Amino acid sequence: MLVLTGVLMLFVYVPSPDHAADSMYYLNQMAFGRLISGLHHWGASVMIVLVFLHMLRVFYYKAYARPRELTWIVGVLLLLLVLAMGFTGFLLPWDREGYWGTVVGVHIAEATPLVGDYVAEFLRGGAVFGTQTLSRFFALHVAALPILMVFLIVIHLRLVTKLDTAGPVRPRSPSGEGFSFYPTQTFRDIVVSLLVLAAIALLAILWPVADRPPADPGDTRYIPRPPWYFLPMFQFLKYFPGTLEPIAAVVAPSVAVLILLLMPWLDRSPKRSFLARRPLSWVVTLGVLSVVALGVIAGPNPNQPLSPLATGPVPVGAAAGRELYVSSGCTFCHGANGAGTPSGPSLYRAVAYHDREWLVEHFRDPKALVPGSQMKEFDWLSDEELNQLVDHLIQLNRENRP
Ligand code: HEC
Repeated sequence: MLVLTGVLMLFVYVPSPDHAADSMYYLNQMAFGRLISGLHHWGASVMIVLVFLHMLRVFYYKAYARPRELTWIVGVLLLLLVLAMGFTGFLLPWDREGYWGTVVGVHIAEATPLVGDYVAEFLRGGAVFGTQTLSRFFALHVAALPILMVFLIVIHLRLVTKLDTAGPVRPRSPSGEGFSFYPTQTFRDIVVSLLVLAAIALLAILWPVADRPPADPGDTRYIPRPPWYFLPMFQFLKYFPGTLEPIAAVVAPSVAVLILLLMPWLDRSPKRSFLARRPLSWVVTLGVLSVVALGVIAGPNPNQPLSPLATGPVPVGAAAGRELYVSSGCTFCHGANGAGTPSGPSLYRAVAYHDREWLVEHFRDPKALVPGSQMKEFDWLSDEELNQLVDHLIQLNRENRP
Protein backbone atom coordinates (compact mmCIF):
# COMPACT_ATOMS: atom_id res chain seq x y z
CA MET A 1 0.00 0.00 0.00
CA LEU A 2 2.82 2.38 0.87
CA VAL A 3 4.59 1.42 -2.34
CA LEU A 4 1.45 1.89 -4.42
CA THR A 5 0.56 5.32 -3.00
CA GLY A 6 4.25 6.28 -3.11
CA VAL A 7 4.46 5.47 -6.79
CA LEU A 8 1.22 7.35 -7.48
CA MET A 9 2.60 10.41 -5.71
CA LEU A 10 5.76 10.21 -7.81
CA PHE A 11 3.66 11.08 -10.85
CA VAL A 12 3.02 14.53 -9.42
CA TYR A 13 5.73 15.22 -6.86
CA VAL A 14 8.66 17.47 -7.83
CA PRO A 15 11.78 17.05 -5.63
CA SER A 16 12.86 20.68 -5.55
CA PRO A 17 12.52 23.24 -2.75
CA ASP A 18 10.78 25.61 -5.16
CA HIS A 19 8.17 23.13 -6.23
CA ALA A 20 7.87 20.31 -3.70
CA ALA A 21 5.17 21.92 -1.56
CA ASP A 22 3.33 23.28 -4.58
CA SER A 23 3.33 19.88 -6.24
CA MET A 24 1.88 18.33 -3.08
CA TYR A 25 -0.70 21.12 -2.98
CA TYR A 26 -1.58 20.34 -6.58
CA LEU A 27 -1.82 16.63 -5.79
CA ASN A 28 -4.20 17.34 -2.93
CA GLN A 29 -6.48 19.26 -5.30
CA MET A 30 -6.67 16.32 -7.73
CA ALA A 31 -9.38 13.67 -7.61
CA PHE A 32 -8.38 11.22 -4.84
CA GLY A 33 -5.11 13.16 -4.42
CA ARG A 34 -5.68 13.98 -0.77
CA LEU A 35 -6.74 10.41 -0.13
CA ILE A 36 -3.55 9.08 -1.72
CA SER A 37 -1.25 11.34 0.29
CA GLY A 38 -3.36 10.62 3.38
CA LEU A 39 -2.99 6.88 2.91
CA HIS A 40 0.75 7.28 2.54
CA HIS A 41 0.98 9.53 5.61
CA TRP A 42 -1.10 7.32 7.88
CA GLY A 43 0.25 4.13 6.36
CA ALA A 44 3.75 5.12 7.48
CA SER A 45 2.63 5.68 11.07
CA VAL A 46 0.68 2.45 11.20
CA MET A 47 3.65 0.60 9.72
CA ILE A 48 5.92 1.80 12.52
CA VAL A 49 3.38 0.80 15.16
CA LEU A 50 2.97 -2.65 13.60
CA VAL A 51 6.71 -3.28 13.32
CA PHE A 52 7.07 -2.31 16.96
CA LEU A 53 4.21 -4.59 18.07
CA HIS A 54 5.58 -7.41 15.96
CA MET A 55 8.92 -7.13 17.72
CA LEU A 56 7.28 -7.14 21.14
CA ARG A 57 5.40 -10.25 20.17
CA VAL A 58 8.53 -11.98 19.01
CA PHE A 59 10.15 -11.11 22.30
CA TYR A 60 7.12 -12.28 24.26
CA TYR A 61 7.21 -15.69 22.62
CA LYS A 62 10.98 -15.75 22.56
CA ALA A 63 10.65 -16.55 18.89
CA TYR A 64 14.23 -15.44 18.23
CA ALA A 65 15.77 -18.34 20.12
CA ARG A 66 18.04 -20.72 18.27
CA PRO A 67 17.90 -21.32 15.30
CA ARG A 68 16.09 -18.05 14.49
CA GLU A 69 18.73 -15.52 15.58
CA LEU A 70 19.40 -14.41 12.02
CA THR A 71 15.71 -13.78 11.35
CA TRP A 72 15.68 -11.49 14.38
CA ILE A 73 18.81 -9.61 13.34
CA VAL A 74 17.43 -9.03 9.86
CA GLY A 75 14.21 -7.87 11.55
CA VAL A 76 16.07 -5.33 13.70
CA LEU A 77 17.79 -4.00 10.57
CA LEU A 78 14.37 -3.71 8.95
CA LEU A 79 13.13 -1.68 11.91
CA LEU A 80 16.02 0.73 11.44
CA LEU A 81 15.24 0.97 7.74
CA VAL A 82 11.58 1.70 8.46
CA LEU A 83 12.64 4.53 10.78
CA ALA A 84 15.04 5.79 8.13
CA MET A 85 12.18 5.78 5.62
CA GLY A 86 10.16 7.87 8.06
CA PHE A 87 13.03 10.29 8.58
CA THR A 88 13.73 10.78 4.87
CA GLY A 89 10.06 10.95 3.88
CA PHE A 90 9.34 13.62 6.46
CA LEU A 91 11.43 16.20 4.58
CA LEU A 92 10.03 15.57 1.11
CA PRO A 93 6.95 17.87 1.25
CA TRP A 94 9.40 20.66 2.14
CA ASP A 95 6.88 22.14 4.56
CA ARG A 96 7.75 23.76 7.88
CA GLU A 97 7.36 20.55 9.92
CA GLY A 98 9.55 18.50 7.60
CA TYR A 99 12.09 21.22 7.00
CA TRP A 100 12.74 22.15 10.63
CA GLY A 101 12.42 18.60 11.88
CA THR A 102 15.11 17.50 9.44
CA VAL A 103 17.37 20.48 10.10
CA VAL A 104 17.39 19.39 13.74
CA GLY A 105 17.78 15.71 12.84
CA VAL A 106 20.82 16.37 10.67
CA HIS A 107 22.23 18.62 13.36
CA ILE A 108 21.95 15.76 15.85
CA ALA A 109 23.74 13.44 13.43
CA GLU A 110 26.44 16.07 13.18
CA ALA A 111 27.08 15.76 16.93
CA THR A 112 28.46 12.26 16.41
CA PRO A 113 32.17 12.23 17.23
CA LEU A 114 34.55 11.56 14.30
CA VAL A 115 32.02 10.66 11.58
CA GLY A 116 29.35 13.27 12.40
CA ASP A 117 30.62 15.90 9.98
CA TYR A 118 30.74 13.41 7.11
CA VAL A 119 27.29 12.01 7.80
CA ALA A 120 25.78 15.50 8.00
CA GLU A 121 27.58 16.58 4.85
CA PHE A 122 26.41 13.45 3.05
CA LEU A 123 22.79 14.02 4.10
CA ARG A 124 22.84 17.72 3.28
CA GLY A 125 24.65 17.14 0.02
CA GLY A 126 27.06 19.93 0.93
CA ALA A 127 27.66 22.54 3.57
CA VAL A 128 24.17 24.04 3.52
CA PHE A 129 20.64 22.75 3.74
CA GLY A 130 18.94 23.16 0.37
CA THR A 131 18.22 21.75 -3.05
CA GLN A 132 20.91 19.06 -2.81
CA THR A 133 19.57 17.97 0.57
CA LEU A 134 16.15 17.36 -0.91
CA SER A 135 17.67 15.38 -3.81
CA ARG A 136 19.60 13.19 -1.37
CA PHE A 137 16.57 12.51 0.80
CA PHE A 138 14.46 11.84 -2.26
CA ALA A 139 16.98 9.34 -3.64
CA LEU A 140 17.22 7.62 -0.26
CA HIS A 141 13.47 7.53 0.25
CA VAL A 142 12.36 6.27 -3.16
CA ALA A 143 15.34 4.20 -4.30
CA ALA A 144 18.22 3.34 -1.99
CA LEU A 145 16.31 2.47 1.17
CA PRO A 146 13.42 0.62 -0.55
CA ILE A 147 15.84 -1.56 -2.52
CA LEU A 148 17.66 -2.44 0.68
CA MET A 149 14.34 -3.11 2.38
CA VAL A 150 13.05 -5.43 -0.32
CA PHE A 151 16.32 -7.33 -0.13
CA LEU A 152 16.04 -7.73 3.65
CA ILE A 153 12.33 -8.52 3.58
CA VAL A 154 13.00 -11.36 1.14
CA ILE A 155 15.67 -12.77 3.43
CA HIS A 156 13.45 -12.30 6.47
CA LEU A 157 10.52 -14.14 4.90
CA ARG A 158 12.74 -16.86 3.44
CA LEU A 159 14.13 -17.50 6.88
CA VAL A 160 10.65 -17.52 8.42
CA THR A 161 9.33 -20.09 5.96
CA LYS A 162 12.49 -22.18 6.04
CA LEU A 163 12.75 -22.36 9.83
CA ASP A 164 9.00 -22.28 10.37
CA THR A 165 7.52 -19.96 12.97
CA ALA A 166 8.21 -20.67 16.59
CA GLY A 167 4.52 -20.77 17.39
CA PRO A 168 2.92 -20.28 20.76
CA VAL A 169 4.64 -21.50 23.89
CA ARG A 170 2.04 -24.19 24.38
CA PRO A 171 0.82 -25.60 21.06
CA ARG A 172 -2.94 -25.48 20.73
CA SER A 173 -3.45 -29.07 19.64
CA PRO A 174 -1.68 -31.59 21.88
CA SER A 175 0.32 -33.02 19.01
CA GLY A 176 1.40 -29.57 17.85
CA GLU A 177 0.27 -30.44 14.37
CA GLY A 178 -2.54 -29.09 12.28
CA PHE A 179 -0.85 -25.78 11.58
CA SER A 180 0.19 -25.01 8.08
CA PHE A 181 1.47 -21.87 6.42
CA TYR A 182 -1.02 -22.40 3.64
CA PRO A 183 -3.99 -22.05 3.85
CA THR A 184 -4.35 -21.37 7.60
CA GLN A 185 -1.70 -18.65 8.02
CA THR A 186 -2.26 -17.19 4.57
CA PHE A 187 -5.95 -16.77 5.28
CA ARG A 188 -5.29 -15.08 8.63
CA ASP A 189 -2.75 -12.78 7.02
CA ILE A 190 -5.21 -11.71 4.35
CA VAL A 191 -7.95 -10.95 6.89
CA VAL A 192 -5.61 -8.96 9.12
CA SER A 193 -4.13 -7.06 6.16
CA LEU A 194 -7.58 -6.05 4.98
CA LEU A 195 -8.50 -4.85 8.47
CA VAL A 196 -5.32 -2.79 8.69
CA LEU A 197 -5.95 -1.30 5.24
CA ALA A 198 -9.49 -0.37 6.27
CA ALA A 199 -8.17 1.27 9.44
CA ILE A 200 -5.61 3.32 7.46
CA ALA A 201 -8.27 4.37 4.96
CA LEU A 202 -10.51 5.46 7.82
CA LEU A 203 -7.71 7.54 9.34
CA ALA A 204 -6.95 9.13 5.96
CA ILE A 205 -10.62 10.03 5.46
CA LEU A 206 -11.30 11.26 9.00
CA TRP A 207 -8.03 13.18 9.34
CA PRO A 208 -6.96 14.10 5.80
CA VAL A 209 -3.54 15.66 5.36
CA ALA A 210 -3.59 19.46 5.40
CA ASP A 211 -2.27 21.67 2.63
CA ARG A 212 1.26 22.67 3.47
CA PRO A 213 2.94 25.78 2.17
CA PRO A 214 6.69 25.56 1.48
CA ALA A 215 9.08 25.70 4.42
CA ASP A 216 10.19 29.16 5.35
CA PRO A 217 13.80 29.23 6.64
CA GLY A 218 13.18 32.74 7.98
CA ASP A 219 10.27 31.73 10.20
CA THR A 220 11.56 32.17 13.72
CA ARG A 221 8.24 31.52 15.43
CA TYR A 222 8.15 27.83 14.62
CA ILE A 223 9.49 25.44 17.26
CA PRO A 224 11.12 22.47 15.47
CA ARG A 225 9.54 19.13 16.18
CA PRO A 226 10.15 15.63 14.81
CA PRO A 227 7.46 13.17 13.70
CA TRP A 228 5.81 11.36 16.63
CA TYR A 229 7.97 8.24 16.36
CA PHE A 230 11.11 10.25 17.06
CA LEU A 231 9.55 12.13 19.98
CA PRO A 232 10.96 9.84 22.71
CA MET A 233 14.45 10.38 21.31
CA PHE A 234 13.80 14.10 20.98
CA GLN A 235 12.72 14.32 24.62
CA PHE A 236 15.63 12.17 25.77
CA LEU A 237 18.07 14.56 24.06
CA LYS A 238 16.76 17.46 26.12
CA TYR A 239 18.26 15.93 29.25
CA PHE A 240 21.75 16.01 27.75
CA PRO A 241 22.58 19.60 26.87
CA GLY A 242 25.78 20.89 25.32
CA THR A 243 28.79 18.63 25.30
CA LEU A 244 26.76 15.76 26.73
CA GLU A 245 24.61 15.66 23.60
CA PRO A 246 26.61 12.90 21.82
CA ILE A 247 25.84 10.60 24.75
CA ALA A 248 22.12 10.85 24.11
CA ALA A 249 22.36 11.27 20.36
CA VAL A 250 24.82 8.51 19.56
CA VAL A 251 25.96 6.39 22.47
CA ALA A 252 22.52 5.58 23.92
CA PRO A 253 20.85 4.70 20.60
CA SER A 254 23.87 2.59 19.56
CA VAL A 255 23.75 0.69 22.83
CA ALA A 256 20.00 0.19 22.44
CA VAL A 257 20.41 -1.18 18.92
CA LEU A 258 23.29 -3.39 20.05
CA ILE A 259 21.16 -4.81 22.85
CA LEU A 260 18.35 -5.46 20.37
CA LEU A 261 20.71 -7.21 17.96
CA LEU A 262 22.20 -9.34 20.73
CA MET A 263 18.84 -10.15 22.30
CA PRO A 264 18.84 -13.82 21.25
CA TRP A 265 22.14 -14.29 23.12
CA LEU A 266 21.30 -12.08 26.11
CA ASP A 267 18.14 -14.06 26.65
CA ARG A 268 19.86 -17.18 27.95
CA SER A 269 17.17 -18.65 30.11
CA PRO A 270 16.15 -22.05 28.74
CA LYS A 271 12.48 -21.23 29.36
CA ARG A 272 10.33 -19.65 26.73
CA SER A 273 7.49 -18.27 28.79
CA PHE A 274 7.58 -14.51 29.35
CA LEU A 275 7.25 -14.59 33.14
CA ALA A 276 9.87 -17.28 33.55
CA ARG A 277 12.46 -15.10 31.82
CA ARG A 278 12.89 -12.59 34.61
CA PRO A 279 14.74 -10.31 35.02
CA LEU A 280 15.14 -9.77 31.27
CA SER A 281 11.41 -9.54 30.68
CA TRP A 282 11.21 -6.82 33.34
CA VAL A 283 14.06 -4.90 31.79
CA VAL A 284 12.40 -5.00 28.39
CA THR A 285 9.00 -4.00 29.83
CA LEU A 286 10.65 -1.11 31.64
CA GLY A 287 12.51 -0.10 28.47
CA VAL A 288 9.33 -0.06 26.42
CA LEU A 289 7.43 1.87 29.08
CA SER A 290 10.15 4.50 29.38
CA VAL A 291 10.23 4.99 25.61
CA VAL A 292 6.45 5.50 25.62
CA ALA A 293 6.71 7.76 28.68
CA LEU A 294 9.37 9.93 27.01
CA GLY A 295 7.04 10.32 24.04
CA VAL A 296 4.19 11.34 26.36
CA ILE A 297 6.36 13.80 28.30
CA ALA A 298 7.34 15.45 25.02
CA GLY A 299 3.69 16.47 24.97
CA PRO A 300 1.53 17.82 22.19
CA ASN A 301 2.91 20.03 19.45
CA PRO A 302 3.31 23.53 20.93
CA ASN A 303 3.03 25.15 17.50
CA GLN A 304 -0.14 26.72 16.23
CA PRO A 305 -1.42 24.97 13.15
CA LEU A 306 -0.77 27.01 10.03
CA SER A 307 -3.55 29.40 9.14
CA PRO A 308 -5.44 28.50 5.93
CA LEU A 309 -4.35 31.92 4.64
CA ALA A 310 -0.83 30.52 4.23
CA THR A 311 -1.89 28.30 1.32
CA GLY A 312 -3.67 28.98 -1.94
CA PRO A 313 -3.46 31.81 -4.45
CA VAL A 314 -3.18 35.54 -3.73
CA PRO A 315 -6.69 37.13 -3.57
CA VAL A 316 -7.72 39.89 -6.01
CA GLY A 317 -7.98 42.58 -3.33
CA ALA A 318 -4.19 42.58 -2.84
CA ALA A 319 -3.48 45.54 -5.16
CA ALA A 320 -6.08 47.78 -3.47
CA GLY A 321 -4.75 46.57 -0.11
CA ARG A 322 -1.24 47.64 -1.10
CA GLU A 323 -2.47 51.21 -1.71
CA LEU A 324 -4.34 51.25 1.59
CA TYR A 325 -1.22 49.99 3.32
CA VAL A 326 0.66 53.07 2.14
CA SER A 327 -2.18 55.63 2.48
CA SER A 328 -3.18 54.49 5.98
CA GLY A 329 0.33 54.91 7.27
CA CYS A 330 1.19 51.29 8.04
CA THR A 331 4.56 52.07 6.47
CA PHE A 332 5.57 54.22 9.46
CA CYS A 333 5.83 51.25 11.73
CA HIS A 334 6.05 48.21 9.43
CA GLY A 335 8.26 49.72 6.71
CA ALA A 336 7.57 50.51 3.07
CA ASN A 337 7.57 46.83 2.11
CA GLY A 338 6.35 45.30 5.35
CA ALA A 339 9.82 44.17 6.35
CA GLY A 340 9.39 45.76 9.79
CA THR A 341 11.02 48.66 11.67
CA PRO A 342 11.93 49.17 15.32
CA SER A 343 8.31 50.34 15.88
CA GLY A 344 6.54 47.39 14.22
CA PRO A 345 7.36 43.74 13.39
CA SER A 346 7.80 42.25 9.92
CA LEU A 347 4.45 41.34 8.35
CA TYR A 348 5.77 38.57 6.09
CA ARG A 349 4.52 35.80 8.34
CA ALA A 350 1.40 37.36 9.83
CA VAL A 351 -0.94 35.29 7.62
CA ALA A 352 0.78 32.03 8.61
CA TYR A 353 -0.25 32.50 12.21
CA HIS A 354 -3.58 34.35 12.07
CA ASP A 355 -6.81 33.82 10.21
CA ARG A 356 -8.77 36.54 8.43
CA GLU A 357 -11.14 37.22 11.34
CA TRP A 358 -8.26 37.71 13.74
CA LEU A 359 -6.42 40.06 11.39
CA VAL A 360 -9.50 42.20 10.69
CA GLU A 361 -10.37 42.39 14.38
CA HIS A 362 -6.74 43.22 15.20
CA PHE A 363 -6.74 46.17 12.72
CA ARG A 364 -9.85 47.54 14.42
CA ASP A 365 -8.68 47.07 18.00
CA PRO A 366 -5.10 45.76 18.36
CA LYS A 367 -5.09 46.00 22.17
CA ALA A 368 -8.12 43.73 22.45
CA LEU A 369 -6.15 40.86 20.89
CA VAL A 370 -2.57 41.72 21.81
CA PRO A 371 -2.58 43.30 25.28
CA GLY A 372 -0.30 46.30 25.43
CA SER A 373 0.02 46.52 21.64
CA GLN A 374 1.57 49.76 20.43
CA MET A 375 -0.26 49.54 17.11
CA LYS A 376 -2.71 52.27 16.09
CA GLU A 377 -6.43 51.47 15.78
CA PHE A 378 -7.79 51.42 12.25
CA ASP A 379 -11.51 51.28 13.09
CA TRP A 380 -12.31 54.01 10.53
CA LEU A 381 -11.58 51.68 7.59
CA SER A 382 -14.52 49.76 6.07
CA ASP A 383 -14.86 45.97 6.25
CA GLU A 384 -13.97 45.77 2.58
CA GLU A 385 -10.84 47.82 3.06
CA LEU A 386 -9.73 45.82 6.08
CA ASN A 387 -10.13 42.64 4.05
CA GLN A 388 -8.10 44.16 1.23
CA LEU A 389 -5.33 44.81 3.74
CA VAL A 390 -5.43 41.11 4.63
CA ASP A 391 -5.21 40.28 0.91
CA HIS A 392 -2.12 42.48 0.75
CA LEU A 393 -0.60 40.63 3.71
CA ILE A 394 -1.18 37.35 1.85
CA GLN A 395 0.70 38.75 -1.13
CA LEU A 396 3.51 39.97 1.12
CA ASN A 397 3.75 36.44 2.49
CA ARG A 398 3.94 34.79 -0.93
CA GLU A 399 6.53 37.24 -2.22
CA ASN A 400 8.77 36.90 0.80
CA ARG A 401 8.70 33.19 1.19
CA PRO A 402 11.57 31.27 -0.38
C1 HEC B 1 2.14 52.93 15.45
C2 HEC B 1 2.85 51.87 14.75
C3 HEC B 1 2.01 50.92 13.91
C4 HEC B 1 1.20 51.23 12.85
C5 HEC B 1 0.90 52.59 12.24
C6 HEC B 1 0.69 49.95 12.36
N1 HEC B 1 1.17 48.91 13.12
FE1 HEC B 1 0.80 46.98 12.87
N2 HEC B 1 1.84 46.52 14.54
C7 HEC B 1 2.51 47.45 15.32
C8 HEC B 1 3.08 46.77 16.45
C9 HEC B 1 3.90 47.42 17.55
C10 HEC B 1 2.69 45.42 16.36
C11 HEC B 1 3.03 44.26 17.34
C12 HEC B 1 1.97 44.17 18.43
C13 HEC B 1 0.72 43.53 17.89
O1 HEC B 1 0.77 42.44 17.34
O2 HEC B 1 -0.33 44.16 18.05
C14 HEC B 1 1.91 45.30 15.15
C15 HEC B 1 1.36 44.13 14.67
C16 HEC B 1 0.73 44.01 13.46
C17 HEC B 1 0.27 42.76 12.92
C18 HEC B 1 0.37 41.38 13.56
C19 HEC B 1 1.70 40.78 13.19
C20 HEC B 1 1.82 39.34 13.65
O3 HEC B 1 2.53 38.63 12.95
O4 HEC B 1 1.24 38.99 14.68
C21 HEC B 1 -0.28 43.02 11.71
C22 HEC B 1 -0.89 42.02 10.74
C23 HEC B 1 -0.16 44.43 11.50
N3 HEC B 1 0.47 45.00 12.58
C24 HEC B 1 -0.60 45.08 10.38
C25 HEC B 1 -0.66 46.46 10.26
C26 HEC B 1 -1.30 47.18 9.15
C27 HEC B 1 -1.92 46.51 7.93
C28 HEC B 1 -1.21 48.50 9.43
C29 HEC B 1 -1.81 49.62 8.63
C30 HEC B 1 -3.24 49.57 8.45
C31 HEC B 1 -0.48 48.63 10.67
N4 HEC B 1 -0.18 47.39 11.16
C32 HEC B 1 -0.14 49.83 11.26
C33 HEC B 1 2.67 48.78 15.07
C34 HEC B 1 1.98 49.48 14.08
